[in-house]
Amino acid sequence: MTATQTPTIAPPRTVRTVADLRECVAALRAAGRRVSLVPTMGALHEGHLSLLRLAAEDDHAVVMSLFVNPAQFAPTEDLAAYPRDEARDVELAAAEGAELVFAPDVREVYPEGFATTVSVGGPALTLEGAARPHHFEGVATVVAKLLVAARPDRVVFGQKDAQQVAVIRRMVRDLHLDDIDLAIGPIVREPDGLAMSSRNAYLGPDDRAAATVLRRSLDAAVAAVAGGERDPRAVERIALDVLTAETRCTPEYASVVDRDTFSPAANLDGSALLCVAGRVGPARLIDNLYMSPRRRNACPRAHDGC
Ligand code: PAJ
Repeated sequence: MTATQTPTIAPPRTVRTVADLRECVAALRAAGRRVSLVPTMGALHEGHLSLLRLAAEDDHAVVMSLFVNPAQFAPTEDLAAYPRDEARDVELAAAEGAELVFAPDVREVYPEGFATTVSVGGPALTLEGAARPHHFEGVATVVAKLLVAARPDRVVFGQKDAQQVAVIRRMVRDLHLDDIDLAIGPIVREPDGLAMSSRNAYLGPDDRAAATVLRRSLDAAVAAVAGGERDPRAVERIALDVLTAETRCTPEYASVVDRDTFSPAANLDGSALLCVAGRVGPARLIDNLYMSPRRRNACPRAHDGC
């Protein structure tokens, strides 16, 4: 290639049926490839792209699913408004080397007469599960269907949705899908600290500025822990006070929980996670951070999203 030529990016193949997905994954395997799946609802941002890069490690073939899953939205939520741009998403996935995009329509995933769901207890019952009844049932159902259909070697999720990670981890164990590796990518943030989210697109300029309050609440908690605070309930109050002080934010919760059970953490050991949620203008935003006083920048477990 000469200096004036730009490299052409081979578009990934887009398939819309489970039968085609199976056939393409089988072809990749027949070619000796291992396969990583990255489930998404599209409207890709740098957070998603970081997961595609993580998925590609060890020369895995990357399969991305692109499906705005109605089952995980309540009737009052933003299903109709959720940003959709398949052509842009496929182009971005191509630039990250994704080889296959599974973009089914709703009837393919939930055929006429569909009557089977996956309901997770335990970590699905608190925080987001309490605020959004049926949300995790919708998530677990669609992720189970994707895992069963694609049977990847690895599936990749983001720490941004820490409770979703705990729910999927529980489900994968409970359904004996644990021959599939779970890789968790760290939260990708905007320069001012706001965790990237497809829903940030709903924020006008004033709400966008106010939305940094979630990150500021986590920072205040970290500072308190660095200053010697060891009581998880006191840490929660400090974070909640910051959320409450932002007039554009309606806080929903600030909770220090165990990363696996999502029940209140009794102390700030390595698995204590501070999770915050609040509504800023039209957007409901979430964020989280590990709270251990011994918190390291590097994650103690590889690909575990710390
Ligand atoms: P979606 O919101 O599109 O997110 C897809 C994946 O990207 C999730 O694993 C999510 O945690 C991750 N992600 C989102 N923002 C991120 C950020 N700022 N940094 C790192 N990772 C980030 O989560 C879903 O879709 C759905 O619930 C799904 C799992 C696809 C099931 O429908």
